[in-house]
Amino acid sequence: MDKDRIRKQVLEARGNLSQGEVVDKSNSITERLLCCNLYQLARTIMVYLDFRNEVKTDSLIKHALGTGKQVVVPVVNTQDRSMISSLLVNYPEDLTSGSYGILEPAPDKVRPMDPREIDLVIVPGAVFDYQGNRMGYGGGYYDRFLPRLRKDAVALALAYEFQVRQDFAMLMGQYDQPVQYIVTEKRIIQCQNSVL
Ligand SMILES: Nc1ncnc2c1ncn2[C@@H]1O[C@H](COP(=O)(O)OP(=O)(O)O)[C@@H](O)[C@H]1O
Ligand SMILES: [Mg+2]
Repeated sequence: MDKDRIRKQVLEARGNLSQGEVVDKSNSITERLLCCNLYQLARTIMVYLDFRNEVKTDSLIKHALGTGKQVVVPVVNTQDRSMISSLLVNYPEDLTSGSYGILEPAPDKVRPMDPREIDLVIVPGAVFDYQGNRMGYGGGYYDRFLPRLRKDAVALALAYEFQVRQDFAMLMGQYDQPVQYIVTEKRIIQCQNSVL
C-alpha cells in the first residue's frame, strides 16, 4: 500500500465517526493525557486546534490554561508551508477561522513564541505506526516545525486507535518527523524511537 492510499483509507474512517463517537473518544484520550507526568510537568505546551473529526483539544486547552501552563497554538504560512507558535491568552476569544478553515489566532492576536520554549507538542495527524512514524495531511507542516524544538522537547500525538497501523517506516522520507508517544482511547504507546 502506498502512503496516499493508507492516508485516504484512515481519513475516510475518521470522517465516518459520529459526533458522539468523536466526543466520547476525545474525552477518553484527553483524560489519559491529563494523567501523564509528561503533561503534568510541561510548563509550555503547543496544542493543535482540531478540525473535521480530529481528536478534540478543547478541554485539554481549557485544562492547561486553568492550571497555569503556557499554551501556544500553530499559525500556518501556506506560502512556504511553515508554522509559527503563538502564545494563546484568551481562549477561545482570540481565535478565528484561518487557513484550511482551521481556527488560529486573529492577526492582531498572534504572539510569536520561540519554539525552543516549548516542552511538549501535541501533534495531529492522519496515520501513525508503533514506531511513532507519522503521516499528516500532505503539507509537511510538522515535518518542518518539529526540528526547531529543543532536543529534550517531546512530540506526542492524539489519535483514535484505528489511526495506528502496522509499521510503515519504509514509506517515510528524509524529512518525516516521528512522535515519541501516541495517546489513543485505549492506551498510551511509547514509540520505540523514543529517546526518553
Ligand atoms: N524541512 C523540509 N524542507 C523541505 N521540504 C520538506 C521539509 N519537510 C517536509 N518537506 C516536504 O514536504 C512534503 C510533505 O509531504 P508528507 O511528508 O507526505 O506530508 P505530511 O508530513 O503532512 O504527511 C514532502 O514533499 C517533503 O519532502
Ligand atoms: Mg511527512
